[in-house]
Amino acid sequence: MPVDVLVGLQWGDEGKGKIVDVLAPTYDAVARFQGGPNAGHTLTFDGVKHVLHQVPSGIFHPHILNIVGNGVVLDPVVFRGELQKLTARGVDWSHNLYISKKAQLILPSHRALDRISEEARGNTKIGSTLKGIGPTYSDKIGRVGLRVGHILLPDFEARYKEAVAHHASIAAPYKKGLEIEEFEADFFSAVEFLRTLQLADTEYLLNDLLTQGKRVLAEGAQGSLLDIDFGTYPYVTSSSTIAAGACTGLGIAPRHIDKVFGITKAYCTRVGSGPFPTELLDEVGEQIRQAGREFGSTTGRPRRCGWIDLPALRYAIMLNGVTELHLMKADVLDGFAEIRACTHYRTATGESTPRLPDPGELDAVTPEYLTLPGWHSDLTQLTDTTQLPSNLLSYLTFLEHELQVPIRIVSVSPDRVSTLYR
Ligand code: GDP
Ligand code: IMO
Ligand code: MG
Repeated sequence: MPVDVLVGLQWGDEGKGKIVDVLAPTYDAVARFQGGPNAGHTLTFDGVKHVLHQVPSGIFHPHILNIVGNGVVLDPVVFRGELQKLTARGVDWSHNLYISKKAQLILPSHRALDRISEEARGNTKIGSTLKGIGPTYSDKIGRVGLRVGHILLPDFEARYKEAVAHHASIAAPYKKGLEIEEFEADFFSAVEFLRTLQLADTEYLLNDLLTQGKRVLAEGAQGSLLDIDFGTYPYVTSSSTIAAGACTGLGIAPRHIDKVFGITKAYCTRVGSGPFPTELLDEVGEQIRQAGREFGSTTGRPRRCGWIDLPALRYAIMLNGVTELHLMKADVLDGFAEIRACTHYRTATGESTPRLPDPGELDAVTPEYLTLPGWHSDLTQLTDTTQLPSNLLSYLTFLEHELQVPIRIVSVSPDRVSTLYR
């Protein structure tokens, strides 16, 4: 009957999709609880790479329910595109995919507002994915949003027009039009498609599963440092990305949560603007970017790369109550003679701290590093943790000591099979 929650501990793209796919067969349902098409979760198996944006990462397992929870913001056009692609790849999602009627709808005008507000920010741009995430969550909190369930009402079109008029009034002071006319026919045809899917009160569906003793895996999107409250505000996304978000984003009570899986890369990346103390702007950063193929799954933007940041990880582990760590992309560091880990920050006042200072102070901190020897061997073909080189084992022991949480999975290539359990 428990719910386990899987979250990213950094700035997203830690490899959450891969691990959800790997763990899914031990669950009865996989449920997304926040975010939307800003997410890009990559799964690779049988030589094929799949990128999911709004569809839960359990979709390739036909016996598992896949639930898009109420905390999600859903773009019907993107969603239809994803499902059509899955159909073309022979995946039948018609029986095991459910969408919460309480999830919020992303309208073309939300995407327009995202673009207009980013343009207006000049050199303080968030670096948004421009998928309409911020404006849609703003409408939700402002109690004027349209929900998936509203598409079943006879006055949906009138509600849509009211929302667009509201958005036009927000855009007016920027002297910008929404310019959405060319997208509206497609939006309404995608809404028509959405009406044919299994729209449900997924909070009941999930709680009924728990009552029957079934197991649920809650799939987080983004990462803890992009959380609306605890991330590097304002350079964050607009949802609760931490484990607690699974309760409000799915309608499950805190007492149902058992394990919390914290996903982290063996180094660190960020896409978009905002502080990143361990960022490497030199050839080492470029070497990580090339070895890790660090280009965004959603926008294709090059990801900013740097060394692992332990003050930030300790903070994320605390906020999420992480019970086990999964260390991703260890193989990306195969070619490095030395590996560095930031253990502390030196603040502007000269103090050394193991904690994460306020986001406003992060640009002024200097990371304090410990250097460890690299393992200089090819990890990508390994099938068992007994084969791990001793310098990698020392790195794992070091991280476990610093973070006080066991590392249960080490991932050594994008493929499903390259997942080593400890
Ligand atoms: P997510 O958003 O957290 O699901 O992560 P993304 O899919 O956006 O980014 C992770 C990228 O790393 C994807 O291209 C994955 O295929 C890839 N990846 C995942 N695990 C590993 C690994 O252990 N090694 C390598 N080299 N790539 C990995
Ligand atoms: P997954 O689930 C990495 C970043 C954007 C931007 C900020 C706000 O694949 O890990 P938004 O479009 O949400 O308003 O953008 O958050 N961002 C992500 N970065 N991975 C993601 O998702 C992200 N989703 C949003 O780049 O800096
Ligand atoms: Mg991603």
